[in-house]
Amino acid sequence: MTDLKTVALRVRENAHAPYSDFQVGAAIEAASGTIYAGCNVENVAYPQGTCAEAGAIAAMVAAGEREIKAVYVVAGSPMPVTPCGGCRQKLAEFGAGDVPVTMATTGGIEQVTTLEALLPGAFSPAFMEPNE
Ligand code: THU
Repeated sequence: MTDLKTVALRVRENAHAPYSDFQVGAAIEAASGTIYAGCNVENVAYPQGTCAEAGAIAAMVAAGEREIKAVYVVAGSPMPVTPCGGCRQKLAEFGAGDVPVTMATTGGIEQVTTLEALLPGAFSPAFMEPNE
C-alpha cells in the first residue's frame, strides 16, 4: 500500500491539468506485483483529456499485463477522489469485484472500497454469451 501511495503521489506531479487545475495520480498493482502509474492528461479540446486511471491501465496493458490486484487514486481534493463512471468500467475490464480501490487526498485521508462497490452490476463479457 505504501508503494502504491508513493507511486500515485509521485506521478500526480506530472499531471497535465491546466484547464481544471485538478491533478490526479493513479497507481495500479498488477498480478506480477509490478506497479503502473498514470496521471490525468488534459487537452484544449476538453473531451480529449484522459483520466489518471486510464493512463495507469494503458501502461499496465502496454507492459503485457491484464490483471489488476489493487488500485490507488489521489488528488488534492477535500475528500477522497472517486474514479469517474467511465474509469470504473475501464477498471472492471481488468479487475475482479473484490479488488481494493483506495481513494485518497494529498492531505492524507484515505477511503478503501472495491470495484464491485464502485460499479455494481458492471457490464461484462457474460452478457455477450449467446442466449440459446
Ligand atoms: N480525473 C481523473 O483523472 N481521475 C478521477 O478519478 C477523477 C477525475 C481528472 C479528469 C480531469 O482531468 C480532472 O480530473 C477534472 O475532472
